[in-house]
Amino acid sequence: MRLYQNPFVFFLIEESDILVWDYYHHQQFKIDVSYFERLLFWSPFKDKSTLDRIDTDLLEGGLLQEEPLKMPNWQWDVLSKIFHMGTQNIPVYDSPPSKKEWIREYAEECEDLPREITFSRKGPVVELPSADTALLKEKDYLTVLLSRKTNRVFRDTPMSLETLSTLLRATFGNIHEDARESSGGFYTAGVRKTSPSGGGLHPLEAYVVIFNVQGLEKGLYHYSFQGHTLTRIGDEVTYQDMIPLFYNQFYLENIAMGVFLVAHFDRCWDKYRHSRAYRIALMDTGHLSQTFLLNATSLGLNTWLSAAFQDKEIARLLGIDGMTQAPLHFVAAGEGENLSIPSV
Ligand SMILES: Cc1cc2nc3c(=O)[nH]c(=O)nc-3n(C[C@H](O)[C@H](O)[C@H](O)COP(=O)(O)O)c2cc1C
Repeated sequence: MRLYQNPFVFFLIEESDILVWDYYHHQQFKIDVSYFERLLFWSPFKDKSTLDRIDTDLLEGGLLQEEPLKMPNWQWDVLSKIFHMGTQNIPVYDSPPSKKEWIREYAEECEDLPREITFSRKGPVVELPSADTALLKEKDYLTVLLSRKTNRVFRDTPMSLETLSTLLRATFGNIHEDARESSGGFYTAGVRKTSPSGGGLHPLEAYVVIFNVQGLEKGLYHYSFQGHTLTRIGDEVTYQDMIPLFYNQFYLENIAMGVFLVAHFDRCWDKYRHSRAYRIALMDTGHLSQTFLLNATSLGLNTWLSAAFQDKEIARLLGIDGMTQAPLHFVAAGEGENLSIPSV
């Protein structure tokens, strides 16, 4: 008989223990070195009568297979494969018997989770003027959709504080004031923004870089969505400081402002324990990015975006650790030439 190794495993050494992680079956085992050696020097041909305890344990645990597991076509490296496979086909556990029961269980699960997002940074606080949402009514929706475009040539033109305020509030702000709907005493959402968010957790915070906004000092800020305020967290950065951090993409020259979308992963950990929730943070980022781009376009601005930046350097600039809180994306706005490619 022939027994095949499960190719979708990796090994970890943790405090002198050997862990084998089977990301195909979503199982992890602590194994003895003799099991590790068996896998390391595995020879596929076995007489059934010679299978010993180690072989049968490995077979039972799915680390050996009677049929070879099919190798998928995957052209990225093993890291992405582990993440992709390890976060898909999560096993379904017993579902509760009725809709009522389902809702009750879910409500119970949420009971201990924070209902408010209370994050703020220390620093001088700048009150923003009220957002002028009437500005977002000037162009019809289709015009906005058709006008959104990635612009790579900006003009050195200041943005008004009202425009900045409206853009931030309509993208990241508490635009609904109180969005909680009470149904049988069960609040459906603690916060509602103009973008959806997996589990209603809104793990992304807006870290704003001001280059050219009337009445606002250049520098780094954190946007507080509850107060509609900016907290100053860092001094002026210049375009020349930023360009190398974006792999020399000079397109950002002359943007009036930009926003780093920073994932606060720790906000997700209590509710979603599985690393599949990393996908949710990435998708939240995409939603927020598009809302920002459409809002900015509606306000008559040009936009640029980039996910290609030096994470560590940006994290240092923003005063975050890059692990529990990490920048995932950058969106920017200003007046520009509406050109996809600069003519040089
Ligand atoms: C996640 C993401 C990352 C991007 N990163 C960059 C970037 O680093 N530099 C850049 O110039 N454009 C970047 N873009 C913009 C795309 O190149 C652009 O959206 C695409 O070429 C289509 O053009 P359009 O936006 O004008 O429709 C990015 C877009 C997305 C969605």
